[in-house]
Amino acid sequence: MNKIKACLFDLDGVLVDTAKYHFLAWKKLANELNIEFSEEDNEKLKGISRMASLEILLSLGNMELSNEMKLKFAEKKNNWYVEYISKLTPNDILPGVKEFLTLLKCHDIKIALGSASKNSMLILNKLNLVNYFDAIIDGNKITKAKPNPEVFLKCAEELNISPKHCVVFEDAEAGIEAAINAGMYSIGIGSPSILKKANFVVDNLSYMNLEKLSLLK
Ligand code: BG6
Ligand code: MG
Repeated sequence: MNKIKACLFDLDGVLVDTAKYHFLAWKKLANELNIEFSEEDNEKLKGISRMASLEILLSLGNMELSNEMKLKFAEKKNNWYVEYISKLTPNDILPGVKEFLTLLKCHDIKIALGSASKNSMLILNKLNLVNYFDAIIDGNKITKAKPNPEVFLKCAEELNISPKHCVVFEDAEAGIEAAINAGMYSIGIGSPSILKKANFVVDNLSYMNLEKLSLLK
């Protein structure tokens, strides 16, 4: 029988609705570069690193840039993004997050953050969520973007829990694939038509409880 000993959470789009700000900032850059960029295109950027996202955006516009220019545009996008998130408060935490994290703590299930973002500490501090986490692995600690499992394997390692006892909560296709590649369970947050490979999908964490975790077999 499975026993979940750790829950690993993606940040953007799972704990807080920052995915919309990533989209707005990429859209602004796309406009500046005269690249057409839709919400559907944006799905491919979810969960992956800033530089990998820029590469996808440039390929949509058949554009090639020097490394120096790429760094410049990635920084520009990040400055817009940081401006958008500067006004985040605990009111922006997504439904059910605090209740579910508290439930896990009460049942001694470990909690980790597994995010590609280099802004994760800034965001967790603004949301007052830092103290819930037993491990925080983010874009500053990893070198390989999701769907590579590095971020989630590092969470398991830091928690000293086997991947087979871990479940990942993700809103991005690349994140669900990273969980599968890590040998972990995965629960999608959002649309079942996009997150087809997850063990199951819920709208948000207010639909989660211990009974649902025990469904993972
Ligand atoms: C992920 C987002 O959580 O973090 C991606 O889903 C984003 O859209 C990535 O590109 C990197 O974030 P940041 O904040 O370091 O640019
Ligand atoms: Mg996400």
